[in-house]
Amino acid sequence: MPQSPRIAVYPGSFDPLHEGHLDIMRRCRPLFDEVVVAVLGNEGKAPLFTVDERVQMLRELLPEHGDGFRVESFSGLLVQFIDQIGACAIVRGLRAVSDFEYEFQMALMNRRLNPRIETVFMTPREEFSFVSSRLVKEVFRLGGDLRGLVPDPVLRRLRERLPPQSVTV
Ligand code: PNS
Repeated sequence: MPQSPRIAVYPGSFDPLHEGHLDIMRRCRPLFDEVVVAVLGNEGKAPLFTVDERVQMLRELLPEHGDGFRVESFSGLLVQFIDQIGACAIVRGLRAVSDFEYEFQMALMNRRLNPRIETVFMTPREEFSFVSSRLVKEVFRLGGDLRGLVPDPVLRRLRERLPPQSVTV
């Protein structure tokens, strides 16, 4: 009997996308037939980039990393989105022990909401283990060098969005 494709969802805010995210995407891709990168439309959290901009940046960058990726946005419950697209797993990156509590809670809540869905934790390369979207924005605002931590198209958009005059020290 033909098996249905194993689809994983890699959800996040991606505000903005950084090299740690891309590393997780590359690592999980061979484990599944397709990886859907799902951008949360969390306009309530006042993101720096709109959901459309975040989706666009991902769509621009992912082709460099091979086939089998799809980028979508979602709102509402992650487990509902996962059901809609017929995925079987959630991929989340675990950088350090400090991520664990929040991730563990989410994994258990998602399992409670939909026992069919497994959460798979993956660790990024050590050199990205300290990189977060929050720190990327803070360091950029304060004029720090983010080369190698954020892909060039994202860096370009950060420069457009946060020009030097917006720096507050
Ligand atoms: O990159 P982030 O911001 O840590 O990602 C968090 C995300 C998007 C995975 C999480 O906030 C989420 O799944 N939100 C959708 C709403 C939902 O399902 N909430 C219950 C989670 S247990």
